[in-house]
Amino acid sequence: MFTFFVLILLAPLVAGDEFTPTAPGPGDVFKAGENCTISWMPSSPGGWTNVSVSLMSGSNDDMKLVTTVAHGLDGSNPSFSPFNWTCPEVEPYSAIYFYQFTNGNDTTDPTWTTRFTIASSSGASEPPEHSSQPNGDAIPWGAGSLRGDRNDTSNTMSKETSSTDQGNQSQTVASSRMDKQRKTASTDRQATPTVSLPSASTVSSPPVFLPAENAVSKAHHLNRVSLLFITFCMYILSYYCPL
Ligand SMILES: *[C@@H]1O[C@H](CO)[C@@H](O)[C@H](O)[C@H]1NC(C)=O
Ligand SMILES: *[C@@H]1O[C@H](CO)[C@@H](O)[C@H](O)[C@H]1NC(C)=O
Ligand SMILES: *[C@@H]1O[C@H](CO)[C@@H](O)[C@H](O)[C@H]1NC(C)=O
Ligand SMILES: *[C@@H]1O[C@H](CO)[C@@H](O)[C@H](O)[C@H]1NC(C)=O
Ligand SMILES: *[C@@H]1O[C@H](CO)[C@@H](O)[C@H](O)[C@H]1NC(C)=O
Ligand SMILES: *[C@@H]1O[C@H](CO)[C@@H](O)[C@H](O)[C@H]1NC(C)=O
Repeated sequence: MFTFFVLILLAPLVAGDEFTPTAPGPGDVFKAGENCTISWMPSSPGGWTNVSVSLMSGSNDDMKLVTTVAHGLDGSNPSFSPFNWTCPEVEPYSAIYFYQFTNGNDTTDPTWTTRFTIASSSGASEPPEHSSQPNGDAIPWGAGSLRGDRNDTSNTMSKETSSTDQGNQSQTVASSRMDKQRKTASTDRQATPTVSLPSASTVSSPPVFLPAENAVSKAHHLNRVSLLFITFCMYILSYYCPL
């Protein structure tokens, strides 16, 4: 009986063909230039295997692309959620942004998060320009864009400030890719047997203290070096130690 109820409760979670965004939710605030975290419940295997993520704004009737966040994500692989990217500098800072997810070439069946706030790096934001949708629904909205997308003057301004606010598009796309690679790499690392060798504890562990940017490649390199070192030590030990 108990098992029966558990199965009933779990059924919608397990049997999801659909890819289901779970965060950000209403009231969430992210600062431009900082981590923006997106979460979802993965689809079943073979479901949403080629997911594109877009940052959007606009009304429900007229959603507008702000910028592309990621594409080609395997939305059936649970290890990709939560997904981090760097929120761009936008105009205005307001609770008018949301994510749209599509799978492969199928643009007819998108799914969305609710609207959330992208605030300035100091946390400032303004209320949405419109308090209700064109059809009257009391869902505030507004039109946003990347800071600098509107005209040449503001573009120049954003270039001047981008060294401090890290808000331009190439950086954010690159950083979302980087986060993804970092994530993939770290799962790879966990699966690498070299890490779980007992003798690894005799080797000092510098990767922890490396700057995040290069941690992955250096850690890989170090893994290789320490594997060689460990193999060498074992070889030497096998001569002198009858164990
Ligand atoms: C953002 O996430 C990265 C890993 O993806 C982490 O190294 C970094 O410390 C985070 N930054 C902040 C401000 O939380
Ligand atoms: C994503 O960013 C959040 C907030 O900065 C951080 O706590 C988390 O560790 C990051 N996750 C990954 C996978 O980088
Ligand atoms: C993945 O989706 C993109 C559109 O977002 C499409 O151009 C690409 O061909 C798809 N890849 C595969 C392997 O179907
Ligand atoms: C998606 O479209 C691209 C061309 O736009 C095509 O090469 C690709 O095979 C398509 N993918 C699927 C799964 O139909
Ligand atoms: C550029 O945009 C700013 C505000 O976004 C506006 O004040 C300015 O007049 C615009 N300049 C031109 C040339 O359109
Ligand atoms: C974005 O940032 C990168 C790296 O700092 C820089 O090379 C590029 O010129 C910037 N692009 C714009 C449009 O500001």
